[in-house]
Amino acid sequence: SPLHPFLQSLPKCEHHMHLEGSLSPSLLFTLASRNKITLPASADSAFTSPETLLDRYTRFTSLDDFLRYYYISMGCLIYEADFEQLAWDYFVRAKSDGVMHAEVFFDPQAHTERGIDYETVVNGFEKACKRAEQELEVTTKLIMCFVRHLPVEHTNETYIQAEPHLVSGRLAGIGLDSSEEGHPPRKWHEVYGKAKKQGIRRTAHAGEEGPAEYIREALTHLDIERIDHGIRLADDKELMREVAERKMLVTMCPLSNLKLRCVKEIGELPIRTFLDSGVSFSINSDDPAYFSGYILDNYCAVQEAFGLTVQEWENIAKASVNGSWCDGSRKDAIL
Ligand code: HPA
Ligand code: ZN
Repeated sequence: SPLHPFLQSLPKCEHHMHLEGSLSPSLLFTLASRNKITLPASADSAFTSPETLLDRYTRFTSLDDFLRYYYISMGCLIYEADFEQLAWDYFVRAKSDGVMHAEVFFDPQAHTERGIDYETVVNGFEKACKRAEQELEVTTKLIMCFVRHLPVEHTNETYIQAEPHLVSGRLAGIGLDSSEEGHPPRKWHEVYGKAKKQGIRRTAHAGEEGPAEYIREALTHLDIERIDHGIRLADDKELMREVAERKMLVTMCPLSNLKLRCVKEIGELPIRTFLDSGVSFSINSDDPAYFSGYILDNYCAVQEAFGLTVQEWENIAKASVNGSWCDGSRKDAIL
C-alpha cells in the first residue's frame, strides 16, 4: 500500500498479543534442540521441520486447531532465558513497526501445569520488558490470562499465586483466553469480582468464535474494561451502542480472525461499522508467529480491505494510545 510508510511511522500501541504466540517455528526448533525436547513429529508430521510447521500454519481450521500447536510448541520454553528471548525478539519487531507501548498477554497456567515455576516465566518476561524500556524506549505492561479450557479452580490458585504481583503493579491486569465455545465468561465471575475489589484491571477475550452474548456476559458478570476480539459485537446493536457510549476499547486482530476462519475475508470484519458507530478499537497481531503478521501487517491488511483515509488512521492510532493502561503522561508523550 502507498500508505505503508505512513502506517509504519504512526505512533501506536499494541494491546492484544500473546507472548507465547510470537514463538516462530525457527525459534521453536532452536529451543527444542537446546533444551533437548522431542517434538511430536511421529504423531504429527507438521513437526518435522520449521518449514513443514510454517506450511501447516497456513491451514488452520479453527481457534482450537491453532491452540493445539500453540500449547505443544510452548513446551520447549523451559528456562528464564527462553522466556526473555521470546519477549525480547517481539519487542524489537514491535519497535520497528512503530509501537511505542505494548501491553502483552501471557498464559502462566500453560507453563505451571507442565512444571515450570511461575517465577521463571514472569522473571524472564520482566527482564525483556525492562530491556525494551531501556534500549528501545518501548514501554510495556504484562497482562496474565486465565486459560478457559482448564477448570475454574485452577484459575483461583493461579490468581492467589499472582496476587502480590497484581497488587504491586508488577502485572498490569488479568485477561481470559483459550477455547471460547462452551466456556461462557460468567464461570470466572468470582475471580474477576475479587480483582475488581482490589483495583486490578480486567479484560477478556469475547466474541471471537463465541456469540455476542459472551461479550454481554463478560461486561455484566466480569465487569471488564476492555474487550479482546469482540468481532461479534456488531451482531447486537444495542450492546454495540453501550460499548461506544462507555468508550470501551475493542482490541481487534484482523489476520488472526482470517487465519482462524472467524471471517472469510478481512472485509467482513466490522471495521466500517465500528468507525461509523463510534466504537473505539485498536488493531493488533494476536499471535504473530502463527498468523504470519505483526502489527503493521495487520494495519496494512485492513487498509487493503477498507481503504481508510489518513484521518481515520490517525484516529485509530490515537484510540490505541488512549485506550492503553499506561498513565496520562506517557500517553501525552506518545501523542
Ligand atoms: N484466542 C483465544 N486464545 C488465545 C488466542 C486467541 O486468539 N491466542 C492465544 N490464545
Ligand atoms: Zn488473543
